Amino acid sequence: MASKTVVVGVCGGIAVYKALDVISRLKKKDINIHVIMTKSAIEFVTPLSFQALSQNMVISDMFEEPRAWEIQHISLAKKADLMLIVPSTANIIGKVANGIADDMLSTTIMATKAPVVFAPAMNTNMYQNPIVQDNIKKLKNFNYEFISPSSGRLACGDTGEGKLADTEYISEIVLSMLYDKKDLCDKEVLVTAGPTVSYIDPVRYITNRSSGKMGYAIAEEARDRGAKVTLISGPCSLKKPHGINLINVNTNEEMYNKVLEYYDKSDIVVKSAAVADYKPQNYCEKKIKKSEDDLKITFVRDYDILKTLGERKKNQILVGFAAESNDLIENARTKINKKNLDYIVANDITLEDTGFASDNNLVTILSRDGEVYNLDKMSKREIARELFNLLNKKR
Ligand code: CTP
Repeated sequence: MASKTVVVGVCGGIAVYKALDVISRLKKKDINIHVIMTKSAIEFVTPLSFQALSQNMVISDMFEEPRAWEIQHISLAKKADLMLIVPSTANIIGKVANGIADDMLSTTIMATKAPVVFAPAMNTNMYQNPIVQDNIKKLKNFNYEFISPSSGRLACGDTGEGKLADTEYISEIVLSMLYDKKDLCDKEVLVTAGPTVSYIDPVRYITNRSSGKMGYAIAEEARDRGAKVTLISGPCSLKKPHGINLINVNTNEEMYNKVLEYYDKSDIVVKSAAVADYKPQNYCEKKIKKSEDDLKITFVRDYDILKTLGERKKNQILVGFAAESNDLIENARTKINKKNLDYIVANDITLEDTGFASDNNLVTILSRDGEVYNLDKMSKREIARELFNLLNKKR
């Protein structure tokens, strides 16, 4: 992503120190940061910390030196690809909602044409005050974005709504908004990820190896490109991604039912889940006790979800995955035909340092028309990016 500029407005509140963490996260993603602090913010943390992290001069007051700078609020307002106000106080929200521009931060917000995101943090009663809520509503109507505070124990000792949202979550939202490709804005994308489980008895099950990382990366790429994304995920330890309709399932049948529920309205469907093909013929309600004999369980076929999708396909672009330990291309091509796919992402599961649980993968993408795209070893997120580049080129 080409380097972007975020102007961070820091207001006075105990959560000021958390703004440092947000800035540090954004800097790690090569975002240029310019900080504007209000006078009361400086009472909590000195500008020096923000200067060191942002590697830019911190601006705090319109009338301070150095005067040599061009009219600062205009220059920063123009330079910003996005403005993030963290923490946002009731004061700054009230000022902007009422058109007041009386310091460096409020004038810059007024002067910018870039998207402005408020991340409020304040006492619960203050946050819930109808005047503050009314101001927020008003600003939302003018297309200002809000990252709602969470609930918890606040610095003042009260418990309730008003805690600054998680700093990782704030930086992820900013990065999503700044993403350079927005070519899926009118699309609904359905992704499956992770394994499914087949239960044997109340304490035992069989499953497939899958960390879910590939599917989550695909869902996040589609979200950042502007799509409305539904992610149907088997059990995995990944955290819930923001801005995605995440539906958790366990069994093949649960995934089958959910996928079919969303299938008709989807434009693009990517099935990266490692679905269990078999389930025990009989589920044992009680725990199976051990005996001296061997245990024999009969497994019966479960749904081939992707095959059903291929049979019911209308205008959807259908993408499958193929995990192969031999004859990669040949097996992948057979799956394209058998399951009526438009694309298949094939990976060789015998390779070390890629595939299962890894952040990287080495894949070949095959199209229905016979094209073969050999990708270099790259991160799962980069593979997701390449995949959507390819789908968009073809549309
Ligand atoms: N798939 C599915 N339902 C199944 C099995 C697989 O929807 N019961 C989907 C997977 O999500 C993947 C594709 O089909 O997109 C291929 O999965 P894979 O496990 O590689 O192949 P199988 O069809 O199960 O064939 P085999 O196990 O014989 O390789």
